Amino acid sequence: MMGRGGGSGMVKALGLLGFMLVASLWTVGAESADEFDVRQHLSTTTSYAAGNSIRYGDETVESTPEGCVPVHINLVARHGSRRPTKKRIAELEKFAERLRVLAKGAAEAQNESTISPPAWISDWKSPWSDKQIGGELLPKGEEEHYDLAQRYKIKYPEIFSEEYHPDVYPIIATQVGRSAASSVAFGMGMFAGQGTLGPAKQRAFSVITDSKGHDIHLRFHDTCIAYKESKKLRKPKVAGWQKHVYDTVAERVKGRYGMAVTIDDVTSLWLLCKNVHNFLP
Ligand SMILES: *[C@@H]1O[C@H](CO)[C@@H](O)[C@H](O)[C@H]1NC(C)=O
Repeated sequence: MMGRGGGSGMVKALGLLGFMLVASLWTVGAESADEFDVRQHLSTTTSYAAGNSIRYGDETVESTPEGCVPVHINLVARHGSRRPTKKRIAELEKFAERLRVLAKGAAEAQNESTISPPAWISDWKSPWSDKQIGGELLPKGEEEHYDLAQRYKIKYPEIFSEEYHPDVYPIIATQVGRSAASSVAFGMGMFAGQGTLGPAKQRAFSVITDSKGHDIHLRFHDTCIAYKESKKLRKPKVAGWQKHVYDTVAERVKGRYGMAVTIDDVTSLWLLCKNVHNFLP
């Protein structure tokens, strides 16, 4: 996956920004069960801040083994927190209307075993309703990558003390605005103080991008036919699991509040939950 640059013989850090290995987030297990925080359970939407406070159990795995010195780091990182995309903004806009319908229905359907839904539901307004476009990296997302770079610098001083050179520190981003911006924020955190630009003594650094349709490293989900085929093949099974979970949630909400929510409503509520937790200040 790596293999770029390296003219100097020792590629010290390879920042690949644009796609994250989600698997690590799915290993969050019993450790955090004592204090459940939904922000740590948002899969690919989990913010860097929430992810950073997850305890993975065996901390010793993280430290450098006795007698070893790190000489090279490959980092594959996802873009930071972003605004919902235009499509999602439109979905949530419509959902505001739907919530009013549900709240009205719930008011009529109350019986001795239900309670009234929370008051905010009937006059909820999408916080993004004034936005025509979306998907861009938020200031919070910039900070996430800036801070991530600073943590790396502190953790691996022996690697990141080398002077900047584009072959020593190749940074590759996908051809997606929020990912490219994330890689720039990361570079600013990594190389601040090393240049001559402005009060923060920033320096210029390069970010390389493959064209979207040919990016076999970072956009394999888009360019690899085998990957796409296998995903398509598994989709019905995954959809079945999802339906089961969403059905259960819909039933519970209905039993508790008398709100006749459908699977689609649960999908929108989950979308809203992820965005409210991650992207509002
Ligand atoms: C009360 O309403 C809920 C939701 O509509 C329903 O599931 C439940 O069966 C009702 N309970 C009674 C006792 O009528």
